Amino acid sequence: EANFPNLVQRLEDTVSKEHFHLLKLIGREADRFGVNAYLVGGFVRDLLLKRPNEDLDVVIEGDGIEFANVLAASNGGSIKKHDTFGTATWTTPDDMKIDIVTCRTEYYAETASLPIVRSSNIHEDLTRRDFTINAMAMSISEHSFGKLLDEYQGIEDLKAKKIRILHPISFIEDPTRIFRAVRFAVRFGYSIEGETARLAQSAMSHLFSLSQQRLRQELTLIHKEAKDLEAFYLLDTLNVWKTLFQKELPASSWQYAERVFKQSGHTVFHILTALASPLSNWREMIQLYIMTAKERVFIEQLNELKQAPIEEIKSIGELHRYLYAVHDETLRFYLLDPTQRFHTHLDDYFKKRQKISLYLTGDDLIKLDFKPGPHFRDYLFELEIKQLNGEISSKEEATKWVLKEKQKAEANHL
Ligand code: CTP
Repeated sequence: EANFPNLVQRLEDTVSKEHFHLLKLIGREADRFGVNAYLVGGFVRDLLLKRPNEDLDVVIEGDGIEFANVLAASNGGSIKKHDTFGTATWTTPDDMKIDIVTCRTEYYAETASLPIVRSSNIHEDLTRRDFTINAMAMSISEHSFGKLLDEYQGIEDLKAKKIRILHPISFIEDPTRIFRAVRFAVRFGYSIEGETARLAQSAMSHLFSLSQQRLRQELTLIHKEAKDLEAFYLLDTLNVWKTLFQKELPASSWQYAERVFKQSGHTVFHILTALASPLSNWREMIQLYIMTAKERVFIEQLNELKQAPIEEIKSIGELHRYLYAVHDETLRFYLLDPTQRFHTHLDDYFKKRQKISLYLTGDDLIKLDFKPGPHFRDYLFELEIKQLNGEISSKEEATKWVLKEKQKAEANHL
């Protein structure tokens, strides 16, 4: 237990004046009520790193909910209880909100959906956390306000810039920590300590115990980091992709993914698809990660595109006949595929298709004495193809063509 006199000053500089006084008040009440109160985890880490962190929770050694009730009883405001988590949110009379949390004995992802929280002490709470840098606490109890609890050399690892787990089965107990290790490593520019990295690699098979949602959630959090591409490579060094896709990814996976990373509006799912794309069983592999109807359509359309005889279709208009239903998103993605031959005409088609505006509308057809009906769509689609091919390039030409078509149709009906 190290004393860190600067920590009080650091806290005062970091949080608002109101929050600082609130923490002092909570510390006084904790002493009075006979419990210990702490700031813990990511907040303390970020305090030491001088990084902003909005996640201000107070952890209580004792019954957090009972203590929250005491706070509201003697200071006013209201309490919202979350019984299963042993947590309560105190809304103070001046409308500040703070979560009062009970020391936990569980931090594992899959148990988080089924919380059985036994209250414990701060040492037990810290020992169940993920990494040394996340396993520090700062007392806010009045009698020891600002005292740092660092039982796992978190400060040392902050200085050494290392992500280190606390015990050898940490990743097995909670495989999401493999992703968390990578997330913190790239965020802070740290390395994953050697033994920790080795243990992550040997826990790979446990990735399959994570639900799809959980996996996607962790990947989405990584994707939100500024150095997301770096994180995806770091996951590779831990064998995450080799495990999830059951095969070492070829260089073209990365070439593809890097292009997709540069596209604005891309999603984690697009990155996963790019990585899987060169594999012969890519569709089967990516199937496991589909979570929305939109993603399902994307994969089906991509599959069609990969199989389409695009080289053989010579005119842009004919490509349209084939690909009109394929979404822009899918085409744009497919055009980034480094393993496909560069289809100049496909690229050209995509650009023209986005810009096209038809010379005639349904209203124009009515004015030209066409009887409204489903065949309008056919006329307009043919017109679109002709415009894409450059065979029709003005409203007059379009009108002339459609009247001729009408004549032909009428002649056929006679
Ligand atoms: N924690 C853990 N194991 C997990 C998830 C969380 O041990 N699988 C602990 C860590 O001590 C962590 C704290 O719970 O610091 C809070 O979790 P979370 O809010 O996810 O992490 P932060 O460290 O606050 O990260 P971020 O800055 O991304 O919010």
